[in-house]
Amino acid sequence: MKSRTVTLLPGDLIGRDLAGPITELCAAAGADVGWEWIEDVVGDDEPIRPACLESIRRNGVALKAPFRARPELGRQSPSVDLRKSLGLYAGVRHLRNQPGIKSRYQDIDLVIIRENTEDVYAGLEHEVHPGVVESIKVVTRAASERIFRFAFRYARAHGRRRLAIVHKANIMKQSDGLFLRVGTEIAQDYPDIETRGIIVDNTCMQLVQRPHQFDVLVCGNLYGDIVSDLGAGLVGGISAVWGVDRGEDCALFEAIHGRVPELLGTDKANPLPLLRPAIELLKHLGQHEPANRLDRAVAAVLTEGKHMTADLGGTAKTSEMLAAIQGALA
Ligand code: IPM
Ligand code: MG
Repeated sequence: MKSRTVTLLPGDLIGRDLAGPITELCAAAGADVGWEWIEDVVGDDEPIRPACLESIRRNGVALKAPFRARPELGRQSPSVDLRKSLGLYAGVRHLRNQPGIKSRYQDIDLVIIRENTEDVYAGLEHEVHPGVVESIKVVTRAASERIFRFAFRYARAHGRRRLAIVHKANIMKQSDGLFLRVGTEIAQDYPDIETRGIIVDNTCMQLVQRPHQFDVLVCGNLYGDIVSDLGAGLVGGISAVWGVDRGEDCALFEAIHGRVPELLGTDKANPLPLLRPAIELLKHLGQHEPANRLDRAVAAVLTEGKHMTADLGGTAKTSEMLAAIQGALA
């Protein structure tokens, strides 16, 4: 009997191939986790099947691989539906250099905190007239307060000193104006955190030119999606980053990249986009020893450079890279 049970959502893409081997690797590293596999996530009449939501609520922790977009169902992506259904309002994405991964910059250590429930992800789009489509951006005071409280608490708890509110309030005066105003108000309660507003386009240029000036960036849903990928590019891409969606009761660790249907069944996919969040999940559960062993083994394999998948510049198969990581566990 394992001391912790974690819901595992292998998704309908590369997680089908990777989830099993990654749970075995965690076990080899000494992780004390039982995995509750949920394969059927998308509901018939509701966005997410109740059994899936119950499992995640009961366990409080989940690991999620990527899902296919399902526009033919007229639904949001399961990733978005999971965030909304579970109240996972804060997307926290860590952009940090990792040993063995080449990147444009060194010593980057940024956190992007993304509002996960509204903005244009509200999914409110309609054709008002043939050839005229509207997409509604929703920003509420309640959701803005909730994300800024989370972000300032996070900054304080993690010893971070600077927080940037990312917006485009010069153009979206009402919606982004409200987001910026609420962030600026809440900043008054955190005088120890240096806070400033920064326009999203300038944020992107500054990130590319002088990324070290940033510490925590707080973004609405869409800017958070885009800026977190830009930031991933700065630290070496999909092998370096991981994300967690958090609410009051649960935490969902997710592969934020790796939607590569053509790699399914080929034994060629890079396992790190799913392995990184799995390692961070272990840390979240307090299982630091197996997590650190895995971190060190991944770093050793990347630094040695002999057993890497093609996207990392090597010729190894997925199974060979995973075997090398397991072999490097010390
Ligand atoms: C992400 C992804 C998702 C998003 C997609 C898969 C719906 O890009 O988690 O960053 O847009 O949020
Ligand atoms: Mg994204």
